[in-house]
Amino acid sequence: MCGIVGYVGERSALDVVMGGLRRLEYRGYDSTGVALVVDGQISAAKKVGKLANLDKELAEHPLPGSTTGIGHTRWATHGPPSDRNAHPHVSNDHRVAVVHNGIIENFADLRAELEAEGYEFTSDTDTETVTHLVDRELRADAPDLTEAVRRVCNRLEGAFTLVIADGADTDRVVGARRNSPLVAGRGDGENFLASDVSAFIEYTRSAVELGQDQVVTISRDGIDVIDFDGNPAPVTEYHVDWDASAAEKGGYDWFMLKEIEEQPRAVADTLLGRHDAEGRLVLDEMRLSDDELRAIDKVVIIGCGTASYAGMVAKYAIEHWTRIPCEVELASEFRYRDPIVGRSTLVVAISQSGETADTLQAIRHARQQGSKVLAICNTNGSTIPRESDAVIYTHAGPEIAVASTKGFLTQLIACYVLGLYLSQVRGTKFGDEIGSTVAELEKLPDGVQALLDRADEVRALAHELADHRTFLFLGRHVGYPVALEGALKLKELAYLHAEGFAAGELKHGPIAVIEPGLPVFVIVPPKGRDQLHEKVVSNIQEIRARGARTVVLVEDGDTSVDPYADIVIRLPQAPTLLQPVLAAVPLQIFAAELASVLGHDVDQPRNLAKSVTVE
Ligand code: M6R
Repeated sequence: MCGIVGYVGERSALDVVMGGLRRLEYRGYDSTGVALVVDGQISAAKKVGKLANLDKELAEHPLPGSTTGIGHTRWATHGPPSDRNAHPHVSNDHRVAVVHNGIIENFADLRAELEAEGYEFTSDTDTETVTHLVDRELRADAPDLTEAVRRVCNRLEGAFTLVIADGADTDRVVGARRNSPLVAGRGDGENFLASDVSAFIEYTRSAVELGQDQVVTISRDGIDVIDFDGNPAPVTEYHVDWDASAAEKGGYDWFMLKEIEEQPRAVADTLLGRHDAEGRLVLDEMRLSDDELRAIDKVVIIGCGTASYAGMVAKYAIEHWTRIPCEVELASEFRYRDPIVGRSTLVVAISQSGETADTLQAIRHARQQGSKVLAICNTNGSTIPRESDAVIYTHAGPEIAVASTKGFLTQLIACYVLGLYLSQVRGTKFGDEIGSTVAELEKLPDGVQALLDRADEVRALAHELADHRTFLFLGRHVGYPVALEGALKLKELAYLHAEGFAAGELKHGPIAVIEPGLPVFVIVPPKGRDQLHEKVVSNIQEIRARGARTVVLVEDGDTSVDPYADIVIRLPQAPTLLQPVLAAVPLQIFAAELASVLGHDVDQPRNLAKSVTVE
């Protein structure tokens, strides 16, 4: 939540910062702002709403040239979206400018302290306290901005990433982080700070990881990192293997459409190098030994939103393949219910961004209880994998649209890989059984592509159903999380009432909401799955009898539902446990198209942000 950029170098800081904000806008879009170091002072511009508003403001009231600057795109926490609450927050003497991501929990006490000293507040934000605190340190005896920021950080409670400029120092921008993301980019005669690397990959792909409770200073010549006590901190550098075009729309109207289209490649890339020719799993990055994996007696999967639905699918696969009991829980609930986990529990944390605060707090809690934590993550260098004992990276490339698509599909793939790896290490499946499942996984990119090739039918359906305000999604077994995911996509993108139910639960209450004409999507399991298939077909008949308009997702060649389906969406054939990778795709296309028909911003739905870094 909130995107932050800082720059020191030889280029126009305004261009670099605005370019960075454009790439980070998916992190929040309630307001945007920039601050530049100009002639011993801060020169700033900020505007409520999306970046386009700031573009307009800058065109009408240009800022002076500068090579040192910071910028921010906001997801509001304290104080409603407005010009006055937009960041950067500038000190009364125009010397200090601060941008912030997170929540300063003790801001009320700090604000009272500063107001008593005569500082005037011009916003409702928690962030502004930091501005005046830093200003106060610089006016007192802090030798430079770095030391002023370090001292202030020790007064702050809560989660924060700060990036701060001092009007009196043209060769320094300082950042600090506790529980919120921040990464540095190393250039030649220029350096960068940002919430994530997409802000600066146009200029450099050399990135520096920043740890908890660290203060980082960028200048033209270098990047220096200290901890909150002032001790030099070790830094880890890494190469960013995304290129700048990966974070561009590339001719698509929306990032989400591009990301849906990228799914065959993303799925293939996530499988790449993870097995040998015989289908034996090879997980080079797994930092847990086979003995540790054999000692596990329970798996607990945590995640939020779409990631938690990937976890629900993983439960079915892991329990079936390994016979290890597996629980799935929302990270936000897990953390605060005193969960029973211990040394023999493997906690699997799923997060596309690697920065979700609920998931991060949950893994910290799990590790405190002695559990090993394995992250499934898409973002190299992010906090969740760094704080985990092991990681399986999904290789989806940057996911910019707020609605997760390729992130979800690749999380499913990583979960399958993990489940098969556990079964291999623990000997619960024979090598040939693992090999044949791997062969089925390898067919999925083509299956996803086949669905994309038929996308026009789903788009036409979105137009046909555009007048409806309520949608239901039903599934059983692994189809149930797919139903939940289909409903979430529609809620977040089209702002419609959409519910996902376990089809078997229908008769225990939800069937009462069925009324004539109500569109109900039903995911039908492959025929080979025992009696489950017949049960779902019966569920379709039950809702059809009550007038529902049934949209049935069913595998190619299965005509048993045709008499009861108003609309059929065909899925390529796949084993039951792998079907979610395919069934999710038409639901993504439907939600994106319906949102577009309704005139909504598909990439930046209202009230949301991509990376949820507050609890
Ligand atoms: O980055 P994460 O995977 O941890 O994010 C978790 C959820 O916030 C995320 O999946 C959210 O539900 C998406 N907007 C859904 O499309």
